[in-house]
Amino acid sequence: MDSDDNRVLVTGATGTVGSRVVGALADWAGTVRAATRDPDETSVSAADETVAFDFERPETWGPAFEGVDRLFLVRPPAISRVGESILPAIDAAGRVGVEHVVVLSVLGAENIPLLPHRRIEKHLQGSSLDWTFLRASFFMENLVETHGQEIVERGELVVPAGDGATSFVAADDVAAVGTRVLTASGHRNRAYDLTGPAALTYHEVAATLGTVLDHDVQYTEPSLLEFVRHSRIGRPWGLTVVMVGLYTTARLGLAERVSVDAERVLGRPPTALAPWAGANRDAFEATGARVS
Ligand SMILES: NC(=O)c1ccc[n+]([C@@H]2O[C@H](COP(=O)([O-])OP(=O)(O)OC[C@H]3O[C@@H](n4cnc5c(N)ncnc54)[C@H](OP(=O)(O)O)[C@@H]3O)[C@@H](O)[C@H]2O)c1
Repeated sequence: MDSDDNRVLVTGATGTVGSRVVGALADWAGTVRAATRDPDETSVSAADETVAFDFERPETWGPAFEGVDRLFLVRPPAISRVGESILPAIDAAGRVGVEHVVVLSVLGAENIPLLPHRRIEKHLQGSSLDWTFLRASFFMENLVETHGQEIVERGELVVPAGDGATSFVAADDVAAVGTRVLTASGHRNRAYDLTGPAALTYHEVAATLGTVLDHDVQYTEPSLLEFVRHSRIGRPWGLTVVMVGLYTTARLGLAERVSVDAERVLGRPPTALAPWAGANRDAFEATGARVS
């Protein structure tokens, strides 16, 4: 049974999944320490403690890891050279008493040796630490955070995914699994594929969002080149490149695998797109209002 002597450090605690992990750990008997690069600017109110932590500033690691026995590890999207930052941070965590690292990884990571997430996984598998890998599919939240404005204002979903289907998962479900594996026994040294209950094409996504949001939403189905041209305005080039890579995966049918792992861990089916969209109606509308 976990007690007050247990302490988890949640990295990425201000981000999509980490913030939800912090929130979901509210009833846990142990201590929840949230990591952010700028604790003076950012308060993570649901956490018991907030600490300065930067994978690229080793001087922050010691104070952040002190007294911690488990770690929720989010690879920041901007860090691709994990060998100079995240891998040595994991080693430092192990030296000062961290026993279990739960990694937010990517569906299919096991097949992509050069993927930063896979390098983190391999490093942990070769260490004396316990690990759990959460190999998550595409987050439903991307639809509101990245595409919400176009969906609400222009009624368009512009992604170069062709007819490929994607097994979208809700970030709340990823966080719920993360919380469970951090706090319950029986999940160490396992990898879970976290998907929603179904794989959907973007035609189906547009139709679902149109119905739930009561907007006309069209999937414009751009070619890769058309998408790059479309993205030139208002989106950083690096992000466009990442998006082309991600949506090419979907286009090729490599994002459509549906897994039962989330249901096995949670004891309930993962959230489907329509109820997720219903619960996020205000977030979609706010995305449009922000620029009007
Ligand atoms: N989006 C998807 O569909 C999807 C699906 C599967 C897996 N993933 C993976 O999930 C991860 C991203 O998770 P997310 O979407 O929850 O995060 P996010 O919302 O993109 O937030 C990034 C987090 O990283 C922190 N951060 C940035 N630079 C940092 C640094 N140098 N050191 C320490 N922390 C730093 C930020 O905190 P501060 O700014 O407060 O420091 C922030 O909390 C990526 O590895 C991505 O590949 C994403």
